[in-house]
Amino acid sequence: MKTILVIGATGQIGQRVCQSLVNDGHSVRAIARDSQRASELEHLDLEIFTVDLENDFCDAYEGVQKVIFVAGSGSSSGYDKTILVDLWAAKRAIDYAEEEPSVEHFILLSSFGADDPDEINSSIKPYLITKHITDEYLTKASVPYTVLRPGKLTNTPATGGFTSERPNIGADTSISRTDVADAICYCVEHDSTKIRVVELFTGHETIDRMFG
Ligand SMILES: NC(=O)c1ccc[n+]([C@@H]2O[C@H](COP(=O)([O-])OP(=O)(O)OC[C@H]3O[C@@H](n4cnc5c(N)ncnc54)[C@H](OP(=O)(O)O)[C@@H]3O)[C@@H](O)[C@H]2O)c1
Repeated sequence: MKTILVIGATGQIGQRVCQSLVNDGHSVRAIARDSQRASELEHLDLEIFTVDLENDFCDAYEGVQKVIFVAGSGSSSGYDKTILVDLWAAKRAIDYAEEEPSVEHFILLSSFGADDPDEINSSIKPYLITKHITDEYLTKASVPYTVLRPGKLTNTPATGGFTSERPNIGADTSISRTDVADAICYCVEHDSTKIRVVELFTGHETIDRMFG
């Protein structure tokens, strides 16, 4: 059985991903920042590895085949945390994956706009720059990757409908966190998603067709 490491497992997408992977019978190792946050995951049949991502977390990688990085410092923290978590912890997560021979796939949750942070006139440009740098770092690493770049995340119900076609300027770019979690779990199951960088929005295609 393959072991899947979920980094950012206590987050809104992380918890959805962990739940789905456990439901599908996977062996899941979930990183939680501390024991209080770990309690959010205790109802699930998974292994919890407690560590703050600002510290060394390479021990979490032992025997892992798939790595899912859905951690992020969030908009309420300062850009110091954006650098420490979204950039530096992600960079180290990629380094650890390259060093652990068992790792065969790294799935990174990025963001719409990370391809060209100059293109979108946005107050979150510093965040998009960290995502841009991290995405580039992963695509140049030796480990097979999938980079998913969703639009604005919502807590609306899953639609099951996707598109990678970027909406016109000013149009709705949103996508449900549950749809994003489902797309991540799809990548876990499908090697055809490797070596891909994909923008993700709500649309009318099945996930199979979108990745096809
Ligand atoms: N908001 C958007 O519209 C949007 C759009 C595109 C992409 N994204 C990206 O999607 C990511 C995931 O979204 P989400 O809604 O699931 O975010 P979330 O609920 O804020 O989850 C972030 C996760 O990262 C963890 N984390 C942050 N700093 C950590 C640290 N130092 N040590 C250990 N864990 C740490 C959090 O742990 P705790 O539970 O302990 O806080 C949490 O598990 C975002 O962070 C963002 O990068 C967001």
